[in-house]
Amino acid sequence: MISKKMQEAINEQIKNEMYSAYLYLSMSAYCTKIDLKGFANWMRVQYQEEMFHAFKMYDYLLDQDGEVKLLAIDQPPHEFQSAENVFKTTLEHERKVTAMINNIMDLAVTEKDHATNIFMQWFVTEQIEEEATAKDILQQIKLAGATPQGLFLLDRELGQRVYTPPAATAAE
Ligand SMILES: [Fe+2]
Ligand SMILES: [Fe+2]
Repeated sequence: MISKKMQEAINEQIKNEMYSAYLYLSMSAYCTKIDLKGFANWMRVQYQEEMFHAFKMYDYLLDQDGEVKLLAIDQPPHEFQSAENVFKTTLEHERKVTAMINNIMDLAVTEKDHATNIFMQWFVTEQIEEEATAKDILQQIKLAGATPQGLFLLDRELGQRVYTPPAATAAE
């Protein structure tokens, strides 16, 4: 069983994860538009990761006999000025998401909801990686992206990212 308040919090976060997916898909389109197809690929994979996050919460709510309520997703921006700004925005966004995940964790602790606490730990760990990756790529853009050659090489590297669903959870 899961409390009404926790159900609301998770439904809200399903929406936030879908917004993240939407935001990264919008960034992917922007990157294609400015001829950075590798960046676009990276963002499209990121879109899939965020959809995976949303579905993970969706499945959890249903497993717990909760009610899934899909909420309206905001329109993401579609103009991002530069590749550097794309990753600056990504890092800022992921930091916000980390705060949201922490709030759900706090609620799980307050409610002594051990199941949700354990479930949400996966997301706490995931956010460490999300922030670190965004920060790392932003740093690479700052160091190498200033020259067309550097940006070209970085684009080629980001073009190699392939979506792989997390192994441990894919089997669930
Ligand atoms: Fe996410
Ligand atoms: Fe994320």
